[in-house]
Amino acid sequence: MTIADLIKAASEQLAAFSDSATLDAKVLLAHALNKDTTYLITWSDKALSGAEINDFDKLLSRRLIGEPVAHIVGMREFWSLPFFVAPSTLIPRPDTETLVDLVLSHFPHTNLSLLDLGTGTGAIALALASEQPEWIIQAVDFNEDAVALAKKNAENLELNHVNIYQSDWFGSVKGDASFDVIVSNPPYIDSEDHHLDEGDVRFEPKSALVAAQQGLADIQHICTEAIRYLVPNGRIYIEHGFEQGAVVRDIMQQAGFEQCTTVQDLGGNDRITWAILT
Ligand SMILES: C[S@@+](CC[C@H](N)C(=O)[O-])C[C@H]1O[C@@H](n2cnc3c(N)ncnc32)[C@H](O)[C@@H]1O
Repeated sequence: MTIADLIKAASEQLAAFSDSATLDAKVLLAHALNKDTTYLITWSDKALSGAEINDFDKLLSRRLIGEPVAHIVGMREFWSLPFFVAPSTLIPRPDTETLVDLVLSHFPHTNLSLLDLGTGTGAIALALASEQPEWIIQAVDFNEDAVALAKKNAENLELNHVNIYQSDWFGSVKGDASFDVIVSNPPYIDSEDHHLDEGDVRFEPKSALVAAQQGLADIQHICTEAIRYLVPNGRIYIEHGFEQGAVVRDIMQQAGFEQCTTVQDLGGNDRITWAILT
């Protein structure tokens, strides 16, 4: 069986389970062969050994029961950077790149201090640090496995100057009124949301996804506390659900922020709300 044959057969099997069947098959095969996906195109007629097919089949069977490709291969690209992922936290999503893009576009030339709350893999903090090495960045998560993972990613990306540590939101963050910017992609899904029973999220921890009060409890807490940790004119950027734009703007206004603005992701859905503390 050739590389092309195997990808075709696996894509057909995966089509019933995955919207990205061919891509999944390619990523899994590349991982099994310890090559990149370009290799699969260049050598599509190459015959595979029994051992190679066997290695691939083990990965495929995990995907066929729904396990995310990122968990199977242990990696996911975010902001064109490779991130180790693990079941302890969220797999970084393309939507979150909107937040990174927005912050970078608002501060193209300014040096600043920034706090990333609920950093998970470190995706937001490390993407920002890769673009703006002079920024002073702290990143926290309450899950110690997530903190270890974010540190591993920082080391792998040679971004060791990002200060990553364990904290229950602001609980262990020192220095009142010292951040120019606070960013967060907190849990924001309602515990009753049916999406929790579908796709990759079934394999991600509820602690990274679900919040009380229809998904708004953590956003509410972060916005209310953030005013003590921001400098005057400091800004907050929060990722949220596509139906939460108006309520998050309200929460920010109530907390004392102004110019509350919601921005859409690449799919045109409300995704990030930001505001200024005056
Ligand atoms: C939606 S995930 C976002 C992960 C990462 N920032 C990203 O965008 O891919 C939310 C993260 O918040 C963390 N978290 C949940 N509750 C927390 C709390 N009380 N204090 C700090 N982090 C918390 C979770 O462990 C998880 O890593």
